[in-house]
Amino acid sequence: MIGRNVLSGMRPTGKLHIGHLEGVLQEWINLQQSYDCYYFVADWHALTTNSETKDLKENTIDMVKDWLAYGVDPNKSTLFIQSQVPEHAELGLLFSMLVNLGRLERLPTFNAYLKEIVKVEEKDKKIYDEVKRAKVNHGFLGYPILQSADILIYKTNLVPVGEDQLSHIELTREIARKFNSLYKEIFPIPEPKLGETPCILGTDSRKMSKSYGNVISPTDDYSILKNKVGKMVTDPNKIRANDRGNPDVCSVFDMHELYHPNKLEVLTMCKEGSIGCFDCKGNLARNIYDKYEEFNEKRSEFSDNDILEILEEGSKKARSIARQTLNEVKEAMHMDYF
Ligand code: TRP
Ligand code: SF4
Repeated sequence: MIGRNVLSGMRPTGKLHIGHLEGVLQEWINLQQSYDCYYFVADWHALTTNSETKDLKENTIDMVKDWLAYGVDPNKSTLFIQSQVPEHAELGLLFSMLVNLGRLERLPTFNAYLKEIVKVEEKDKKIYDEVKRAKVNHGFLGYPILQSADILIYKTNLVPVGEDQLSHIELTREIARKFNSLYKEIFPIPEPKLGETPCILGTDSRKMSKSYGNVISPTDDYSILKNKVGKMVTDPNKIRANDRGNPDVCSVFDMHELYHPNKLEVLTMCKEGSIGCFDCKGNLARNIYDKYEEFNEKRSEFSDNDILEILEEGSKKARSIARQTLNEVKEAMHMDYF
């Protein structure tokens, strides 16, 4: 039987874009109706790729305001900051003894990151290894182990994540099994849960990401939205307004699916040629704007202090649960000395 604990985390990247909202947060909100949910700011994880910390607090507050404005409810879910529950690190240290280096180096996330930062051909093995050793910090290599501790310390059953994180959940399952068989059956084997909304693409049809400059934000005003949507790719064969179009090859149509009350209407108008792409894009921009009006209103009602108080209280609650698990772990490992 599946248990009731859900956990997920986000790095504090500041204000979220609509991909985060409609993809990840929507899933968090669906789950909070029927599970015990723990959602946290992964501030330690942010350090693995960025040593700059001066904006950490502001980014955390900005991001959690988005969580709440979108509908994450601190009365239903426990919201906290990773670094305020240091038990994660202690469990992570114990877990790090159960994973060999080769396993970490084979993770696809690790290799994707290497490709980004080691700009040397892999076939120049010697140089490649040298650059890799110089550039990758130990924290980055080990962070999937910390992630496993994040998950298992709450005896999590279900982890809502994006596809890119599946390999980390697999590692978490291996660690749980290994710990359980070596010491004591403490951890459930968690399942990943992929979101129902398919990945939202950016305005250039690549993955939506700040670093690509292709994001749509819930705070964009109407003229900005019109501009951004205006650049999106439509059916190249629909040139004049009354040409018949093919919504299947149109990135604007994909987005209408999320924002239009009746996407069949858009489909028909496009196929019949009774609307031109210019107006169709205008409608999309308007619908996006309308959808986030309430979000923006709600968002502006939270002060920074409101957010910090919620996180402080949540961190205390999370910590008391994390401590219990860690005590069980220490007992199972015969390290409860006094
Ligand atoms: N690694 C995740 C990311 O980069 C964030 C994260 C950290 C996380 N710990 C987690 C997600 C635990 C789910 C569960 O997006
Ligand atoms: Fe896309 Fe709309 Fe143009 Fe059809 S009318 S191709 S759905 S933008």
